[in-house]
Amino acid sequence: MRTNTSRHYRQADPRAAVGVSPPFGQGVPPVHTAAAPTTTFQASRIVSDVSGPATPAPGTGGLDAYRVPREPYWRPVADEVALYEAAYAVRMPIMLKGPTGCGKTRFVEYMAWKLGKPLITVACNEDMTASDLVGRFLLDAQGTRWQDGPLAMAARLGAICYLDEVVEARQDTTVVIHPLTDARRMLPLEKKGEVVNAHPDFQLVISYNPGYQSLMKDLKQSTKQRFGALDFHYPVHEVETEIVAHESGVTAEVAAKLVHIAERARNLKGHGLDEGISTRMLIHAASLIVRGVPALGACRMALVRPITDDPDMRDALDAAVTTYF
Ligand SMILES: Nc1ncnc2c1ncn2[C@@H]1O[C@H](COP(=O)(O)OP(=O)(O)OP(=O)(O)O)[C@@H](O)[C@H]1O
Ligand SMILES: [Mg+2]
Repeated sequence: MRTNTSRHYRQADPRAAVGVSPPFGQGVPPVHTAAAPTTTFQASRIVSDVSGPATPAPGTGGLDAYRVPREPYWRPVADEVALYEAAYAVRMPIMLKGPTGCGKTRFVEYMAWKLGKPLITVACNEDMTASDLVGRFLLDAQGTRWQDGPLAMAARLGAICYLDEVVEARQDTTVVIHPLTDARRMLPLEKKGEVVNAHPDFQLVISYNPGYQSLMKDLKQSTKQRFGALDFHYPVHEVETEIVAHESGVTAEVAAKLVHIAERARNLKGHGLDEGISTRMLIHAASLIVRGVPALGACRMALVRPITDDPDMRDALDAAVTTYF
C-alpha cells in the first residue's frame, strides 16, 4: 500500500469519485491505494480516509475518528435544534435545504456533537457511483478484500451519514439510499451478498440547495418523500451580525455593516445576481478586516469579486460597500 498525502486523489477509475470528509481534528491523512479502482478523496476542512485498511469491526471504536471533538459554534436561528432532536429520536432521515453558505454543514456538525454521534460526511458529485457509497472489493498484495463505503460504514457502525449536495449525484446512485431511509433501514451490499441492517444510532442527512438544480438534476419524489426537511435561510440581521462577529472576531459594528451590504446584494438575486452574498462570505470579509486589510479592499475581494463578473453588477455592489465603509 502506498501513502499519498496530497490534497486531491484521483485513482484509475474516474467514475469512482467521492469526497469523504474528515475525521475531525486530523491533518491531511494518509490515503491507501489499491490496485482495483478506488475512491477519490477531497480534502475539506480536515480530511479522512475511509478507504483505509479493513473496516473496523463493530465495538472496536472505529468511528472515534469521526466524532466531533469540540462543541461547534451554533447560534440557534429558530427551533431547528429541537426539531432535529425530535427527528433523530425517531431516526427520521433529514434533508437540510438552503442556499450556499447559510449554515447547513455547521448545523449538522453541531447536532452530531450534541447527540454524541460520529459524523461521516460525503461530498457528492456526478461521477459518484453506488459503489462509492456502498463499498467495493479491493485488490491488494494479500488478495481481494471488501471495503465498506462511507454509507455502509455509517449504517453498520451507527454514525450520522451526511450526504452533502446529494443532488449532484446521479439518480441511479441516489436510489441506493432508499432501503436505508424507509422502514426497512437496511443496505444490501449486492456485490458482497450481504444485507447490512442499520445500527440503531444510524441516521441519514442530506443537503439540498433548492433552485440550483436543473430539471435533469433534481431528486426523485420517491427520494424526497423519505425525508423530513428543515429550511435554512440567511439569519435575520441581528443574528447574522452576532455570527459574523463571533466567527471572525470583528466588532459588532463592522459586522452589522457587512450584513447590511449582504442584504442589499440579496435583493439583487434574480435581478442580475444568481445568488446573494452568503454568511460564509461575510465571515471571509470580516476575517480580512480583522487582519488589517482595509474594509473596502476586503469587501471587494471577499464579497463582490467572487459572485459576479458583470461590470455593472460589480459597480452596484461596490457602491453598496462604499455606502457603509
Ligand atoms: N446559525 C449559525 N451559527 C453559527 N455559525 C453559522 C450559522 N449560520 C452560518 N454560520 C457560519 O456560516 C458558515 C458557512 O456555513 P456552512 O458552511 O455550514 O454553509 P452551508 O449551508 O453548508 O453551505 P454549502 O451549501 O455551500 O455547503 C459556517 O462556517 C459558520 O461559520
Ligand atoms: Mg455545506
